[in-house]
Amino acid sequence: MIKARGLARRFTTKLGPVDAVRGVDIDVAEGELVGFLGPNGAGKSTTLRMLTTLLQPTAGEAIVAGHDLLSDPAGVRRNIGYVGQKNGAGADQRVADELALQARFYGLSKHEARRKAGDLLERFELQGMEKRAVITLSGGQQRRLDIAMGMLHDPRLLFLDEPSTALDPQSRRNLWDHIKQLKADGTTVFLTTHYLDEADFLSDRLLVIDHGSIVGEGSPDELKNSVSGDLVVLGTPQAAVVATKFPDAVVEDEKVSFRIPNGDRSLPGLLRDLDNLGVELHSVQVHRPTLDDVFLTMTGRSLREETNAGQNYLG
Ligand SMILES: Nc1ncnc2c1ncn2[C@@H]1O[C@H](COP(=O)(O)OP(=O)(O)OP(=O)(O)O)[C@@H](O)[C@H]1O
Ligand SMILES: [Mg+2]
Repeated sequence: MIKARGLARRFTTKLGPVDAVRGVDIDVAEGELVGFLGPNGAGKSTTLRMLTTLLQPTAGEAIVAGHDLLSDPAGVRRNIGYVGQKNGAGADQRVADELALQARFYGLSKHEARRKAGDLLERFELQGMEKRAVITLSGGQQRRLDIAMGMLHDPRLLFLDEPSTALDPQSRRNLWDHIKQLKADGTTVFLTTHYLDEADFLSDRLLVIDHGSIVGEGSPDELKNSVSGDLVVLGTPQAAVVATKFPDAVVEDEKVSFRIPNGDRSLPGLLRDLDNLGVELHSVQVHRPTLDDVFLTMTGRSLREETNAGQNYLG
């Protein structure tokens, strides 16, 4: 569905060139739900806008939904849906009018448009809202309408840019269920997110982007397993002493953290050994690797620190 090679985009600004995307390779198979995860400014939207023909790449090439991005952009557009990062529907417009207008844009007949709009309103739980102005819909309803608008022409491949940003937890869950259903119905989905829980929950496979380059790839589980071991955090006044036993240990105040394989099984023996050495322990925590640990391992930074806007949603 997507095969991109060396896709790059440089913006020229007053302050000099900005390499937003630095030559990425992307492969997405038919039927996959792929998450494109990265912090703010990583290059997610720029990549998406290139893959959807909205932005000219400065280098590279791609086949998207069976059509060449550079020589047949119209072919690409006919076969993809795109839901941008900001709301697509006009605030003062009625829901039904927005859908009808979009359907006209895709060249559907009036009859087809009405039938398709009816289907989609039902599918995205928007029945009975045809006459409402878009602005009166809840955030979750608006987002579902955006997606419905991207699905009017039955695209084989749907691009979603940050689908759940600014939604409350319940609306996010509902939206996620709808996105999973799109995949179950056979649509290939490529979505960007900077939310770890969203990436984890939705994606068959993840591509992790940072500073315009892809730094990791795999299923959420594969990526988590690639981080070696569980993180153990011990609270002890002898943190420095304990740290000498583990090469990767980090000491912070009266806490020492390090990684050990199979923490749940190996921890009891480890604690006994420390007790025998006379180490006084105040607290013990074990963390299974999360996608944040994956990001930290890959880039030396935490994704959490950079996504304050989404703080409440980081599972
Ligand atoms: N039109 C533009 N002109 C100059 N720089 C740009 C332009 N569009 C994007 N950039 C820069 O390119 C980089 C990548 O931006 P992009 O919007 O692709 O990031 P993102 O991963 O989508 O971030 P976010 O999570 O905030 O949506 C950023 O440094 C951004 O400031
Ligand atoms: Mg973006």
